Amino acid sequence: MRFTVAIDGPAAAGKGTIARAVAAHFGFAHLDTGLLYRAVGMKGGDPVAAARALAEADLSRPDLRSHAASDAASRVAAIPEVRTALVEFQRDFARQEGGAVLDGRDIGTVICPAAEAKLFVTARPEIRARRRWLEAGGDASPESLDEILAQVNARDARDTNRPDAPLRPAEDAVTLDTSDLSIDDAVVRAIEIVKARIDPR
Ligand code: CDP
Repeated sequence: MRFTVAIDGPAAAGKGTIARAVAAHFGFAHLDTGLLYRAVGMKGGDPVAAARALAEADLSRPDLRSHAASDAASRVAAIPEVRTALVEFQRDFARQEGGAVLDGRDIGTVICPAAEAKLFVTARPEIRARRRWLEAGGDASPESLDEILAQVNARDARDTNRPDAPLRPAEDAVTLDTSDLSIDDAVVRAIEIVKARIDPR
């Protein structure tokens, strides 16, 4: 069976956790496409050459979750040739036998416009910044909540305003606002949305 779940949305909306849980629930493979852009951003040198030469090992660098990697990712992600170099890998992953979940910014709009299920996972910026801050240790975090909010807003603005594959919901995506949901409730809701597309009776 081939079945693609496309999950898009802004930074720290809960896409990754939801995508992993949906994949585990249905037994689908999962690809966090942000890792591709993070790896290209952290490789240094010419980003287009880095994207064309991207290898499996680049995706297991330990520093890909750092703020430096998020920032570098959203910069290289605005370069059309970088995005083009990563399209085929993502499409092959999406159409593999057994089903696939991909999370990112342009999965439902550009990479897999024919995906069987599309979710746009979002939350208010203050809530998303607070989640990132808590993940980084809360009061023990090296950055204040305000600094993290500014970073989240800057990255959202860059992702939303770039001309090539900007962040926006696909017309046929179901929006899931996780601002006032626990992660468990958000996961249950996401699974229901996907289930309705697998078995629309
Ligand atoms: O986890 P978080 O939402 O903070 O970031 P991510 O999904 O790892 O993505 C990091 C950056 O890569 C984003 O800010 C985007 O600029 C870029 N990206 C993209 O352009 N297209 C994707 N499909 C995935 C990520």
